[in-house]
Amino acid sequence: MSTMGLMTSIREYGELIRLQKKLAKVFPSFKEQHAWLQKFRQVDAHVKTAHNPSHVLQFILAIFNTPESVEGCIVEAGAFKGGSTAKISLAAAHMNRPFYVFDSFCGLPENKEQHIKSVMGYSIQNWFDGGNFAGTLDEVKGNVQAYGNINVCEFVPGWFNETMPLFNKKLPWPIWM
Ligand SMILES: C[S@@+](CC[C@H](N)C(=O)[O-])C[C@H]1O[C@@H](n2cnc3c(N)ncnc32)[C@H](O)[C@@H]1O
Repeated sequence: MSTMGLMTSIREYGELIRLQKKLAKVFPSFKEQHAWLQKFRQVDAHVKTAHNPSHVLQFILAIFNTPESVEGCIVEAGAFKGGSTAKISLAAAHMNRPFYVFDSFCGLPENKEQHIKSVMGYSIQNWFDGGNFAGTLDEVKGNVQAYGNINVCEFVPGWFNETMPLFNKKLPWPIWM
């Protein structure tokens, strides 16, 4: 592993410890904390994802910490293979919130964006080419069925610029991508 990779892993590990302490505030029982973390680890073990576990856990903590009195649904803009979708669906079901999943289900749109290096300094050339990060609707549904809760999910296939302007549900939520 490169030094940069090692630093990233250490940072991620530290971040997960910090967030697990926050999870303990939501679920004081160790058994419950463990059960939630196991469900998320199952997703990481079986589904190809494009996120750091800490990033999605941060988002899920925000779901748990939003009072029931705040109305609204959760939206995901970009599911890839459905890993983050599966995790978020579990939290959405727990909090009784509908969950809308927007995606082309055929990857990124064609584009001329130039991506050379990430903020961490490594090459990300061609990462964002059209068609990358593709997960079909069947793949995403299959993964959510296996590791999440599909009952709270509404899938909205299509390009964001065409599907999102038509979306008219109450939305108190940030968007996960
Ligand atoms: C980086 S991946 C998402 C990663 C995923 N949330 C995860 O954590 O594994 C980006 C996703 O957004 C979708 N996407 C990107 N731009 C889009 C657009 N303009 N319209 C529809 N879908 C788009 C891609 O199809 C892809 O599934």
